[in-house]
Amino acid sequence: MYHPKASQIMAVFLFLYSTNPYHSFSATHKYLRAGSSLSVERSNDVIVSKDGRFSAGLYSVGDNAYCFTIWFTNSANFTPVWMANRDHPVNGRRSTISLKKDGNLVLTDAGRFIVWTTNTTSTSPVQLCLLNTGNLVLQSSENIILWQSFDFPTDTLLPQQPLTSKSKLVASQSRTNYSSGFYSFYFDNDNVLRIYYSRLEITSVYWPNHRKASWQLGRANYNTSRIALFDLIGHFQSSDNMDFFASDFGIGPIRRLTMEFDGNLRLYSLDERTGNWEISWQAISGLCTIHGLCGPNSLCVYPPDKIRCSCPPGFKLKDDTDWSQGCEPIFELSCDPLDSKFIVLPGIDFYGYDYNFTLGATLQECQNMCLELCSCKAFLYKMSGRGTCYLKILLLNGYQSSSLGVKMRIKVPKNMTISDGGRLETIPLSCNPKAVVELGRDYKQKQMNSSLNYLWWFVVVMGCTELISIVIGWWYLYKTNKATSSIELGYILTIIGFRRFSYAELKKATKSFSTEIGRGDGGVVFKAELING
Ligand SMILES: *[C@@H]1O[C@H](CO)[C@@H](O)[C@H](O)[C@H]1NC(C)=O
Ligand SMILES: *[C@@H]1O[C@H](CO)[C@@H](O)[C@H](O)[C@H]1NC(C)=O
Ligand SMILES: *[C@@H]1O[C@H](CO)[C@@H](O)[C@H](O)[C@H]1NC(C)=O
Ligand SMILES: *[C@@H]1O[C@H](CO)[C@@H](O)[C@H](O)[C@H]1NC(C)=O
Repeated sequence: MYHPKASQIMAVFLFLYSTNPYHSFSATHKYLRAGSSLSVERSNDVIVSKDGRFSAGLYSVGDNAYCFTIWFTNSANFTPVWMANRDHPVNGRRSTISLKKDGNLVLTDAGRFIVWTTNTTSTSPVQLCLLNTGNLVLQSSENIILWQSFDFPTDTLLPQQPLTSKSKLVASQSRTNYSSGFYSFYFDNDNVLRIYYSRLEITSVYWPNHRKASWQLGRANYNTSRIALFDLIGHFQSSDNMDFFASDFGIGPIRRLTMEFDGNLRLYSLDERTGNWEISWQAISGLCTIHGLCGPNSLCVYPPDKIRCSCPPGFKLKDDTDWSQGCEPIFELSCDPLDSKFIVLPGIDFYGYDYNFTLGATLQECQNMCLELCSCKAFLYKMSGRGTCYLKILLLNGYQSSSLGVKMRIKVPKNMTISDGGRLETIPLSCNPKAVVELGRDYKQKQMNSSLNYLWWFVVVMGCTELISIVIGWWYLYKTNKATSSIELGYILTIIGFRRFSYAELKKATKSFSTEIGRGDGGVVFKAELING
């Protein structure tokens, strides 16, 4: 009597095992079935994708703080792909992720409060599995997808995961705090992909170059489909014509596109032997163009490689340990025009927050307008054309460029003494060591293999040709324009330069095409690729 029963059970077990498409290739693989749960207290309560590259579960993000997370299994440092509750971490005791019999997936804090749920229902059995793509999928037995993490990105896109009008990438607060931060990558109302900075009352778009029209940057705003994704070979394409290739273009490494806490959007490739991530593309090379990095009243300056934050004369750091708080004046301004004067900051601009601008004003008239307007903190006077006067009521997004050819004049009390008499030819970088904070990251220069030398020299030769056009172009722009900064110039000329390379041509030119053209000093090169496709 016992033998037939035992074999029936065995048969049923084998049947289930062999028909489940997600049965394991590795011993650690699991999926979550209706009626079961993952506990924060059991460290091996992790769902692993079939190929082992992705894991999902409750992960510690701070002191007694856990998030329901998908992460890269083979990354040396914890690198989340997705988080359900980044702004509401749960307790380290008795918190669970439960897949209810009715098809709802629920994250409960300390066994009591529902912190997050998929709000799904199903009359047929459901299961939660982590696909090899990194997509966490809740599906019914009829293979209907009830919910998937790909529809709700956090700060990262994976290959084949579309960014749509319904989703955006929001950076985390910092390298170690995964809560929602200040930078977002999204489809704007005019169908163009942009990055904006938003903190407290301040919101501003800074990428792509906000001083130019979309069409000048090769972006289309007529296509309303609003969809962007990158594929398994590292080619990113968007309905607004944003288009670029990873520098290590080709099938191979796992890649991720992440909106980062420092305001830059970067594509990374994972070296699975070391667990390290290599940057294979980034949106912004001139890091001082990122808004909000240095906080109000402060200046972002470029020493050769890294960027720094610095306070203008008459200002001091608000918080020595947090440069993003910016600087504050050490003086108080009176509204009486007779009590104020201006100090000149050559090559400095504060972007945005103009009270108004007046065409055809003289420098003296511009200065008087600022003196008479109590809330005016500074003014920028451009000599070009008939002379333009910009009155600033907030000193935000300050940045330095020696070739900018503009002079910012900041209002200070008349009796304030500045060591060099108020005329500063250079900005002190480190009068107070604490007032200078290092920021930003650099590309690590990759070893170039010999087959790429050919491509490299091709680029060098083209580069020299471009240099000549740069000089001519610069001269032309210098003569005709006015407000054009060197930064804008860089963009323009890079665009011209890279229009000459068709991607197909380059690909043909070398088999091992790993697009090293963007390496080294060439962040700009990547940007041009992006702009032109
Ligand atoms: C992350 O930052 C937020 C906002 O500043 C803060 O409320 C939260 O406690 C921080 N989280 C951790 C784990 O430190
Ligand atoms: C709009 O973008 C989509 C996705 O990139 C593309 O398939 C479609 O052809 C585009 N439509 C037009 C009119 O360009
Ligand atoms: C800008 O504001 C100043 C100060 O209120 C004023 O004198 C000036 O006429 C304004 N310019 C324009 C173009 O409105
Ligand atoms: C400058 O003048 C203001 C008001 O006129 C006064 O309060 C302040 O103490 C003066 N500062 C110096 C350094 O003289």
